[in-house]
Amino acid sequence: MGGRNEPPRLAGGSFAAWSRDRLACARRGAEECGDVWQLEPGVYVAAAAGPCEAVLRRAQDFPKASAPLFPPLKRPEGAPTPEQRSYAHAARMRGLRAQAVADRVGEIAPRTARFAGHLPTLQDVEILPLVRHALADIGVSYLFSEDAPALLPYASQLFLAREALVRPSRWMWPRWVPTPARRFRTRQQIAFTDALRPVVRRRRSSGRLGDDMLGQMLRPSPHYGLLPEEAVLDTLPGITVATFETPSRAAGWILLHLARHPRAADRVAAEAASLPADPAATTSAHLGGLPYTQAVVSEVLRLYPPSWLLTRRAARQTQLADYTIDAGSTVLVCPYTAHRDAREYDEPDRFRPERWLGDPDSPAGPGVFLAFGTGPHGCEGAALAMTMLTLLTAQTARRCHLSEPPGPEPGYQVSTLEGLATVGLRLRATVRD
Ligand code: HEM
Repeated sequence: MGGRNEPPRLAGGSFAAWSRDRLACARRGAEECGDVWQLEPGVYVAAAAGPCEAVLRRAQDFPKASAPLFPPLKRPEGAPTPEQRSYAHAARMRGLRAQAVADRVGEIAPRTARFAGHLPTLQDVEILPLVRHALADIGVSYLFSEDAPALLPYASQLFLAREALVRPSRWMWPRWVPTPARRFRTRQQIAFTDALRPVVRRRRSSGRLGDDMLGQMLRPSPHYGLLPEEAVLDTLPGITVATFETPSRAAGWILLHLARHPRAADRVAAEAASLPADPAATTSAHLGGLPYTQAVVSEVLRLYPPSWLLTRRAARQTQLADYTIDAGSTVLVCPYTAHRDAREYDEPDRFRPERWLGDPDSPAGPGVFLAFGTGPHGCEGAALAMTMLTLLTAQTARRCHLSEPPGPEPGYQVSTLEGLATVGLRLRATVRD
C-alpha cells in the first residue's frame, strides 16, 4: 500500500451491521480495532478522546458539512453575505455566553418549577413531549422574552419540520429535490420568519431592543454597525429549535437515571431544598449551591451524550493518529465511545456522579468530556443547557420520586438516528412526603 497506513477495518462491519445496532457496532469497533477504525472504505470512526478532539479542533482539515437544516430563504434581494452571516453568528454568541445566561436564571427557574409542579402523578406518562414543551417555553423565552408567547407555536412547527426531515427514508434524494418534507420545512421557516419580522421592526423603530438574545442581535456593534434584518432573521430558526431539541433528549436520560438511582435522586432533592420557595428569586449563586445535581447532569451526558456521533469530511489527504485519511472521506467522531474509555474514566460504564466532585476513588478526576463537542463548532448553548437541565433536575427531584413502569421490558426505545434519545419513555411520578 506504498506507505499508506489504513485504519483497521471492523470484521463483519458494514452499513447493514451498523444500521442494525449503531451503539453496539461503535463499541465493538473501539474494542476490536482501537482509537480510529474503518466502517467501510472511506468511512472512518474516531473512537477515542485524542482523535475525536483532533478532528473537531482541526476544522480546516475536517470541516463540518455545510448543509444546515434551515438554509437561508431565497429572496429577490439576495441572501445576506457570508460576512453578514458571521457577524450575526457573533452577535448570537454574545447573547448565549455564560454571564448572559447567569443573569437570567430567575426567568428560567419558574418555568422548570412549573414543569415539576405540573407533572401528572400516580400514572405512567410519556415524559418527552412534556419535557420538550417546557424546554421550548424556556428556550423561546430566552431568545425573545415578552414576544415568546406569539412565537412559541411557530417554534413547535419548526421542530416538527426538522423531525420530518431526519425521518429515515428509502431514498437519499439529492439536495435540490423538493421532497414533501423539504417543502414543509420551507413553509414553516417562512411562517416563523414572517411572524418574527414585525417583532424586529417594532423593536428597532421603538428603540426598545430588549435584553434577550434578539436584543443582542439588534444592537449595533463597533465592528459592523447594524445587522441587516434578513441576516438577523436567517440565523434564528435553527437556534430556536436548538434551544429545546437536544436538551429534551438529555432530560429524558436524566429523568430515567433519577428513576433508576433513587439514592442519587434523594441527594439531588436534599440539595434542592436550598432553592428559594419563590423560583423567580433563584440566582446563579443558588445554582452554585447544586454541585451534586450538576454532577448528575454531567454524568448522564457522559454516559448518554445526546449528540453521540458528529460528522466531518476530510477536506484533503491528511493524517489522523498514525493513519492516512483520504480527501473526501467521512470521519465520524464518537463522543459515546470516547466517554466510555477506561483510560479516561474509571469504571466507565458505571453511573457515578461523584467522579465530578473530586471523588477520592478516582484521584485523576474526570477525563475528556465531549458532550458539547469542542473546537470552532463546539456547542454555543452549553451554558443555557446546563442551567436549564440542572434546575429541571433539582426541582423535579425535590417534588417527586420517579419510577419506571413495572415489568421486564424497558418502557422506551433507544433511538440513535438523530441523537441518542429515549423514545416513548414512560415514567411515574409520586409526590415526596
Ligand atoms: C444538553 C444539551 C445540548 C447538547 C448535548 C449539545 C451538544 C452539541 C454538540 C455536540 C455540538 C457540536 C456539533 C458538532 O461539532 O458537529 C453542538 C453545536 C451547537 N449547539 Fe448544542 N447542545 C445542547 C444544547 C444547545 C442549546 C440549548 C443551544 C442553543 C441555545 C445549542 C446550540 C448549538 C449550536 C448553534 C451549535 C452549532 C455550533 C457551530 O456549528 O458552530 N445547543 N451542540
